[in-house]
Amino acid sequence: MDLNKQLIDKREASKLGGGADRIAKQHEKSKLTARERINLLLDENSFQEMGMFVEHRSDSFGLEKNKIPGDGVVTGYGTIHGRTVYVFSQDFTVLGGSLSETHAEKICKVMDLAIKNRAPIIGLNDSGGARIQEGVVSLAGYADIFYRNTLASGSIPQLSVVMGPCAGGAVYSPALTDFIFMVEDTSYMFVTGPNVVKTVTHEEVTSEDLGGAKAHAEKSGVNHFTSQNDVTVLHEVRDLMSYLPQNCETFAPHPTKFEFNPSKLDKIGSILPANSTLPYDMREVIDCMIDDNSFREVHKDFATNIVVGFARIEGRTIGVVANQPASLAGVLDIDASRKGARFVRFCDAFNIPLLCVEDVPGFLPGTDQEWRGIISHGAKLLYAFSEATVPRITVITRKAYGGAFDVMNSKNIGADLNFAWPTAEIAVMGAKGAAEIIFKREIATAENPEAKWKEKEQEYADMFANPYKAAERGFVDDVILPSETRSKLAAAFKMLEGKKEELPTKKHGNIPL
Ligand code: HXC
Repeated sequence: MDLNKQLIDKREASKLGGGADRIAKQHEKSKLTARERINLLLDENSFQEMGMFVEHRSDSFGLEKNKIPGDGVVTGYGTIHGRTVYVFSQDFTVLGGSLSETHAEKICKVMDLAIKNRAPIIGLNDSGGARIQEGVVSLAGYADIFYRNTLASGSIPQLSVVMGPCAGGAVYSPALTDFIFMVEDTSYMFVTGPNVVKTVTHEEVTSEDLGGAKAHAEKSGVNHFTSQNDVTVLHEVRDLMSYLPQNCETFAPHPTKFEFNPSKLDKIGSILPANSTLPYDMREVIDCMIDDNSFREVHKDFATNIVVGFARIEGRTIGVVANQPASLAGVLDIDASRKGARFVRFCDAFNIPLLCVEDVPGFLPGTDQEWRGIISHGAKLLYAFSEATVPRITVITRKAYGGAFDVMNSKNIGADLNFAWPTAEIAVMGAKGAAEIIFKREIATAENPEAKWKEKEQEYADMFANPYKAAERGFVDDVILPSETRSKLAAAFKMLEGKKEELPTKKHGNIPL
């Protein structure tokens, strides 16, 4: 017997997964196979597969006659931009990519390697969930994965790419990772599917509406990045990886080459409208501060009143958290606080310096927000900034009102530097509301209350609708021209390169959840 040929044949059998028909079906649905996906994700020819001959151990419900080498998941390691990553890719052509005991063991094996060797793990999910024929061993397999997701959290970057079904408890592995990518039309995530929903709540809803990429991008915030198809999503994952370090003890790559269009220095000063109550797009302001085309927005369609994402300044990766005056006037609400807090914590865990760009009128008032817990959720953002030990800089472009001034990376919660533009207004509240409260009696008894109110509003605005009161007290370190912002930031982030700060000894903090 030709042993080498035997090996080659076995490899080919494993690579065929569930067979040509099922591969064709996968392609018909505009989905790539598990291996095709890995090949697009990783640098060319860098994939090293492990466990391609693993078979399940089940002999129930006819499974004993349905053993396919690899058991529905392709696992191994390779490189992205020359750096090691670990990967698993579920193969829907094999029993719907369902998770058996051995399928879970394969995933856990690469996760353990990733954790030990301090490199990112990327999961490509396309699975019908727990292998129903196997029962509890499959559930235990999921728990083994969740446990490792939690151990790895904050230690190595973990990315989940949902490229097909991801239902039931299976959703909790992606949920425990740092970022979720979803593909439009072909991926969905839900704890209970449309049939169960109909039985329990009598709601009729499609899979797409319940748990498709759009629903999770806009409504739940579970999905961080939406992509059109399998090819674009894998390209976006590769791109994001270029902003991330390998683990919590290293830094993101810092390319020395970067481009910056100098016309942006003129543009930045003309973005804010003359009337400070009018909106503008904060993304334009961010773009004028950073290296050309370097902004990678995270959670773009969720809580649009806050903008978060990765960018580069002179090649150095930073995380940007910015209020968005173009959406709900940039007010902080529950979703914006959760979104901001999660991003700040990711950056802090992985040594990515933070830039906060502030124009915030305060927290959103109302029973809806109060009863749903804006107090605890708002505290998340406050907590996240306060505990972050990475370099932290704030630029106040316009409003910094009330508690939101404190929350948005103020000096008093540990920011290293705060800059303000001449247009900054740093006060307890807007001048109109402030005048109404503190001059209530004078306004009520005035001959012309409206005129008195206006006069008092102006008085308050003259006092606080500028950055100089805060600068006098050192709450901002410098007042700068918009056109100076990029150079100030570049110098400041360079200056803060060696920052080392330790939190008081603790087992872990107790962030308000
Ligand atoms: C075993 C499964 C399977 C599963 C699919 N298959 N899901 N086999 N266990 N969970 C098999 C099918 O029998 C079929 O085999 C093949 O995969 C393809 O499935 P189809 O149904 O033909 O595909 P499609 O029409 O695209 O539908 C995909 C699907 C559907 C929506 C995912 O298969 C489905 O609803 N599956 C069950 C989902 C589910 O309830 N899973 C358990 C969730 S609970 P053949 O041989 O016919 O090709 C869970 C608990 C986790 O996961 C708990 C963790 C704590």
